[in-house]
Amino acid sequence: MDKFQDICHQNEQFQCLIYIRINGRDAYLNDDFQFENCMRILPLEQQARILEKRGRTRQIALVSQLLQLMGCCKATRRNIGDLKFSNGKFGKPRLLGRRVPAFSMSNSDGFCAMFLRRNSGDEDDENGIPSEVGLDLASTTDCKSWNDEYLNEFKDIFSVHEFTHLRKTLDAGRGRKLLDRIFTHYWSMKEAYTKFTGTGLNCDLSEIDLGSVSESDYNRNAEFIRTVQIDQRCMVFRSKWINETVVATVCYEMGSDDAGSPGLTMCSLELPEVIIEALNMK
Ligand SMILES: CC(C)(COP(=O)(O)OP(=O)(O)OC[C@H]1O[C@@H](n2cnc3c(N)ncnc32)[C@H](O)[C@@H]1OP(=O)(O)O)[C@@H](O)C(=O)NCCC(=O)NCCS
Repeated sequence: MDKFQDICHQNEQFQCLIYIRINGRDAYLNDDFQFENCMRILPLEQQARILEKRGRTRQIALVSQLLQLMGCCKATRRNIGDLKFSNGKFGKPRLLGRRVPAFSMSNSDGFCAMFLRRNSGDEDDENGIPSEVGLDLASTTDCKSWNDEYLNEFKDIFSVHEFTHLRKTLDAGRGRKLLDRIFTHYWSMKEAYTKFTGTGLNCDLSEIDLGSVSESDYNRNAEFIRTVQIDQRCMVFRSKWINETVVATVCYEMGSDDAGSPGLTMCSLELPEVIIEALNMK
């Protein structure tokens, strides 16, 4: 938590990805009393949205909202009641205010993550909207077995360039693990972009052409960076694997202050510390 706090407060511009591993053994989530306690941190409207969900999705929705509030409070040094949010046409949440960071949330395979970024060029007025960002987590565990039929199911979501790359990898018999990784990585980049624009999946994913990714891009702990021109915008994609199966991709528009931009800092947080921080900021 200290690392995250330092990053937000020591720099005028920053970018940071924070994430929590949610496992089924989290006492906080399985205990009804604690669950209620956490729910009370949230505004009533969010509580109602969470209660519409069932079982594990309900727990994940709660953790996602807590992480969102805690991240926004820490980054802006405001309390929960002082935060102002708005939602885009397709549900994209945004934080409003003077010099606030942009953020994006994602959940996958037991991880809940938030990407925050503040640009030096962001507006300085109280109702300003910061430059957009997108985040997506994707997991190789969602892939099934790779053969022609399975690959063809996804033809519509890839550009010709990307699909040819996937087909060549399949035809070369390079192994399921590599295909899982390439597919999952493409997916996380595409979805991160749709979360940047705010359309979500209401768009033609095949129009987002990310080129090909090579096997050497999958070194453990390495950061993958790609700059692509999409819809007359120069987009920066940065990805890192959180573990063997889950990749996180963030994207944003390249700005004039990106030349000396630091790498993608990732901070792993524990659920109890996020809850305690959120309680303190109520
Ligand atoms: C955005 C979208 C791609 C996310 O899909 P997903 O893989 O299920 O979800 P992820 O875990 O990666 O991300 C979920 C988070 O994305 C954010 N989000 C929701 N809609 C978003 C949008 N349109 N743009 C950017 N971010 C969005 C929220 O913070 C959400 O977290 P929450 O559910 O805890 O509130 C998908 O929900 C979508 O296509 N949404 C648009 C759907 C739509 O047309 N909605 C109708 C009107 S509201």
